[in-house]
Amino acid sequence: MVRTAIAIAALMVSAGGALAQGDVTLGEQMFGDRCAGCHTVDESTKQGPGLASLIDRPAASVEGFKYSDAMIEAGLAGVVWNIETLSKFITKPRSVVNGSTMGFTGLRNPDDVANVIAYLATFSPPPAQ
Ligand code: HEC
Repeated sequence: MVRTAIAIAALMVSAGGALAQGDVTLGEQMFGDRCAGCHTVDESTKQGPGLASLIDRPAASVEGFKYSDAMIEAGLAGVVWNIETLSKFITKPRSVVNGSTMGFTGLRNPDDVANVIAYLATFSPPPAQ
């Protein structure tokens, strides 16, 4: 029993730290439905900045993209896009960057959020081990 509990705890810790806890295929569909109108997953920009190499990059760091003052300030204040900040931002953009010009109210379902992040993570280099 004790051993099982420890094993489960360990599993939860590693899942919490892993990037790909969401479903990449579902995330791709969700991205296509909800994000692709404004974002690419390469370096090119549309209405929003390209989201390649997003994981672990500071907010507002795509050169040449005209971010809102609020997003630039978030970057200067040290906001970095990781699982935690992205989960919050995609759920409710203005909870992370008050005044962001991203015209998107957020995804309500935590599974959708995790799936989109898992999909985006496939366009980022793997985290250093
Ligand atoms: C209506 C257009 C629009 C939609 C839809 C949209 N975004 Fe954005 N997104 C933007 C804009 C514009 C910005 C820049 C905001 C700013 O400067 O305040 C942005 C910024 C971002 C950033 C910060 C990027 C950086 O370089 O700092 C992330 C991450 C992001 N969007 C993810 C998403 C995801 C994931 C979705 C879908 C769930 C989505 N966006 C849907 C327009 C959009």
